[in-house]
Amino acid sequence: MKKNIIVTGGAQGIGKIVSTTLIKEGYTVSVLEIDQEAIDELREEHSSDDMAFYQCNISKENDVKTALSKSMEQFGNISGLINNAAINNNKPVTELTLDEWNQVIGVNLTGSFLCAKYATPFLQKTNGSIINLCSTRAFQSEADTEAYSASKGGIFAFTHALAVSLGPEVRVNCISPGWIDVSGVKKKSKAQQYKPTDEDHMQHPAGRIGKANDIARMILFLLNPENSFITGQNFVIDGGMTRKMIYV
Ligand SMILES: NC(=O)c1ccc[n+]([C@@H]2O[C@H](COP(=O)([O-])OP(=O)(O)OC[C@H]3O[C@@H](n4cnc5c(N)ncnc54)[C@H](O)[C@@H]3O)[C@@H](O)[C@H]2O)c1
Repeated sequence: MKKNIIVTGGAQGIGKIVSTTLIKEGYTVSVLEIDQEAIDELREEHSSDDMAFYQCNISKENDVKTALSKSMEQFGNISGLINNAAINNNKPVTELTLDEWNQVIGVNLTGSFLCAKYATPFLQKTNGSIINLCSTRAFQSEADTEAYSASKGGIFAFTHALAVSLGPEVRVNCISPGWIDVSGVKKKSKAQQYKPTDEDHMQHPAGRIGKANDIARMILFLLNPENSFITGQNFVIDGGMTRKMIYV
């Protein structure tokens, strides 16, 4: 039986490349995604019996429970959970409403909790692995990003807490991407036009902005059971940006 991996927000952006990479590497993938248009586009572009789509809002408990039980029914196991779906709402803190704050925390942090809670009994049976998408914004900030940054700081702590609770059966790690260009992997109606400049690339010690593949490769590494001594960790993939002094 192929190993089945849950990818939240798996129809666009980094999640889309993670989903399609996992299929190429012989996994089955269950995409939990809120955006039906993005689901339809990926299904058309990448039809495979090994990929199933569950339209679902990960901040809603019943949606998560239903999607995970359907995924179990379809593929017979859950061997990995990639908590990737997230939103942001960047505006001055004095203008950010309580509803907007709760929405960001609800998707990014509570949604990851709900998926972990309901996937854990299945992951314990397969010695599976959870990988949470954190962000370098958990550790450094631009102005007006309080809700997103706080949600990602929560993901960092949630990761090590969960690793201690679920070991040794289930490993839990997080990845903190820096600037990853996802403009080419959005649904057509949201395809962003911004083309990174030479300056954007060259400010990175690695000489370039990140690609979704940079994250997908780390996910493959962390899912690999041979790497069973790695848990509770955060992996920064940012082309070196968080190691750079930027005083002007
Ligand atoms: N792209 C970057 O530069 C970058 C940097 C740091 C961290 N990250 C993190 O990586 C992950 C992916 O980022 P991305 O840039 O690919 O984002 P994206 O916006 O391109 O994709 C996110 C996906 O999640 C889905 N989604 C949103 N809310 C959902 C919900 N409630 N339920 C189910 N699905 C939902 C969206 O429809 C979308 O398909 C996120 O956790 C993000 O915080 C990205």
